[in-house]
Order: sequence, then structure tokens, then C-alpha cells
Amino acid sequence: MPTTLTWDPLDPAFLADPYPIYRELRERHPVHWHRTLESWVVSRYSHCLAVLENTDAFGADPRKIGEDLPEPGGSIQTLDPPEQTVVRRMIVHAMRSLDLDEIVRTAWRRADELVRAAEGREIDFVEAVSLPITTELTMTAVGAPDSAAHDFGEVSAVIIRGMMSGLLPDGREAELAAARRQLSTMLEQWWHGPAGGVLAALRENPLAGKADLRVLMNSVRVLLLAGINSTQRFVSLALYALLARPGGLRSIAGTTDLKRLLHELIRFDGSAQVASRYCVKSTVLGEQRIEAGETVILLLGAANRDERRFGDAADLVPDRAANPHLGFGHGTHACVGISLALAVGDGVLRALAAHYPDMCLAPGAIRDPNPALRGFQRLPIAPGGRRERG
Ligand code: HEM
Repeated sequence: MPTTLTWDPLDPAFLADPYPIYRELRERHPVHWHRTLESWVVSRYSHCLAVLENTDAFGADPRKIGEDLPEPGGSIQTLDPPEQTVVRRMIVHAMRSLDLDEIVRTAWRRADELVRAAEGREIDFVEAVSLPITTELTMTAVGAPDSAAHDFGEVSAVIIRGMMSGLLPDGREAELAAARRQLSTMLEQWWHGPAGGVLAALRENPLAGKADLRVLMNSVRVLLLAGINSTQRFVSLALYALLARPGGLRSIAGTTDLKRLLHELIRFDGSAQVASRYCVKSTVLGEQRIEAGETVILLLGAANRDERRFGDAADLVPDRAANPHLGFGHGTHACVGISLALAVGDGVLRALAAHYPDMCLAPGAIRDPNPALRGFQRLPIAPGGRRERG
């Protein structure tokens, strides 16, 4: 018998702190049927890992269960190997061409400039810092022309709203599909123009002739959106987690290599809380049989707090050594932007710790009402005085 616990993913209490529900799910209903989501919800680390690794039984391509690919067609995210293989290889290769040290330096400089512009007054960190910095850096990384910033901002806002439409009563599928098409058209124009970054690296790749241009452009669209949305949310969540701790940013002021801490911040409270797959071959998960044709939602955020896998799972352990968290996914669809996201996080957090060690949270934070992509709509902070160096 399927367990049929139902909770409301849009409940403000769940959005503020999903971890008590995650714990209950892990302990009592590790593989359970959610009636509203019409999906199996999986919360234990071992089960999530099993799904991500079992690509024979679980895929990302909706056609495998008789559904259509989202408009305007397949991408790195919605195709599985072997169809996904060439485009994923090309994108991974293009991402390796990015100058990560330069990205860290730019993130540091821009974070300092944007906070300094507030002249000590309270600011909304999302609007003033994390969103503009991640948008600028991701667009530059992709190779978008500077002139595209305004149009891209408008289209991207529609897509982000639409990404929640599965959970909202007034689903906006048509608006979302139109925005996706518009963005893919913009990308094709950039591809044929004087682009740099990832687009240039893709064009120069000898495999370019073998890849379907539409799939490639759809994949760059995913790259842009995933990059901006996941990273801007992550930077705000990371700052929030650090400022909520005793010592705030002072606790990381002397750290030269933030990589371990950044991974732990992702494990502790990452932006990507969910990955979903379609079951293509009936499989038993835990004690539950999943039938071909059913959808599985993996709660990565719950898996990352699983005490069976992580010691002191509920605590932020800044120097946690072994940290095989699933906050960037795993396997054939694992995140291709990890180095970029970590470079942005590194530059921003180190700049703030060095120049604004007294920064603290101010009242009025508003969570983004998105259970799949965790983050803030508004994160007010009081910067405190600027120091020349930390
Ligand atoms: C802290 C920031 C980020 C987080 C937490 C994050 C998280 C994730 C996760 C969990 C997945 C796997 C989803 C799944 O298995 O279905 C994923 C995939 C992906 N990410 Fe990220 N990501 C981040 C930043 C970025 C950046 C900066 C980029 C690129 C600019 C990027 C591009 C992608 C792409 C293209 C995929 C799809 C890969 C595929 O399906 O093969 N992400 N990300």
C-alpha cells in the first residue's frame, strides 16, 4: 500500500523551514505518493542516489512516458543519453574554458561596489547584490551581448514565474512556452553574432557540426536560467546562513579557500531542493514498487540532511571534510555549472567578509514561494561600516 501523506509545498511554514517535514518524510514515509503532485516523493539519501544512478529505470525525457518535450524542444536537461551525450560533452567542455579566477575577482569587485553604493544604509541583498551580480556574470560567461540585458531580464522573469505553474492554480503554460521560444530565438541571434564565452567555445568545438543547433540553443537557455536562478538564490541563502551564526561574516574572514564551506552551505540549505525523473521500467525503491510511467520527485534537500549519510546532518559544519551532497545533483544530469557557481559565491562572500565584517540581517526577509528552488524574494541586510581590508 502506498503511503499517502500529503503536505502543502506552498505552505509558508514549509517554505520558511521545510526540514521538519523532510525529517518526517525520511523517517516515516521515505517513498510516498503525493496526491496533489501526482508523484512519488523520495527523501532518503540512498533512495535519491539510487534513482539518479539507475538511468535504465529512471529518465529525464518525458517522451519515455508518452509525454511531449517542453516547447521548444529537447535540451541537455530533458534528453537522456545517448541523445544528450554530444550536447552535454560540448557544454561541459565550454564551461571548462571559463576564466574562474577572473570570475572570482569580478564577483568580489562588484559585491564591494554594490554594497558600498548603499553608503551604510540597509539594502535588499537580493535586488541590490545577488541578482545583478549573478545575472551579469552568467550572461558574460554564456557570451551574451551587453545590449541583451534588458530583454533577457523580462523574458527570464516570465520563465521563473512559469516554472512554478505546476504548483499554482492558474498554471501559465502558454505564457511560459512563449517566453521559452523567445529566449531560444534571442540565443540563436547571439549565436550568429559576435558572441564570446560559452557560445564562442561551442561554436569552435569540432563537434558543433554534429549537434542539433536547436538542442544546443535550448541547452544554453537552460544554462542561463539555471545559472542565474540557482546561483543568485544560493548566494543569498549562504549569506543568510552565515549571518544567522554567532560571529557572522567574521567567522570566515581569514579563510583563503572557501570551497569546503561553500559545499557545506549547499548541503545545509541549497537552492536546488528537487530533481524529478520519469520511471521507465518498473522498479522497487525501498519497500515501494514504482511503476513505469510514474513520476518521481527527489527531495535533494531532504537527502542532504539524512542522518544515515551525514554526521551532525542538521548542523552547518564549515570544515566538513567528506561531503558527497546531492545539492548539485549526480550522474548524467549533474550540474554543469558547479565551478561557476562556486566562483561567484567565493568572490561575493569573501568580499563581504573582508570589507563588511559587521554586516547583519535586518528584519523583513521574504522567502521566494518556490519549494523547488529555495531562496529569498527579499533579504534586507545592514552592511555596517566598510573596512579597507579584512
Ligand atoms: C549554487 C548554484 C547551483 C545549484 C544549487 C545547481 C543545482 C543543480 C542541480 C541539482 C542540477 C541537477 C538537476 C537534475 O538532476 O535534474 C543541476 C543541473 C544543471 N545545472 Fe546547475 N546549479 C547551480 C548553478 C548552475 C550554474 C551556474 C549553471 C550554468 C551557468 C548551471 C547549469 C545547469 C545545467 C545546464 C543543468 C542541467 C544538466 C543536465 O541536465 O545534464 N547550474 N544544477
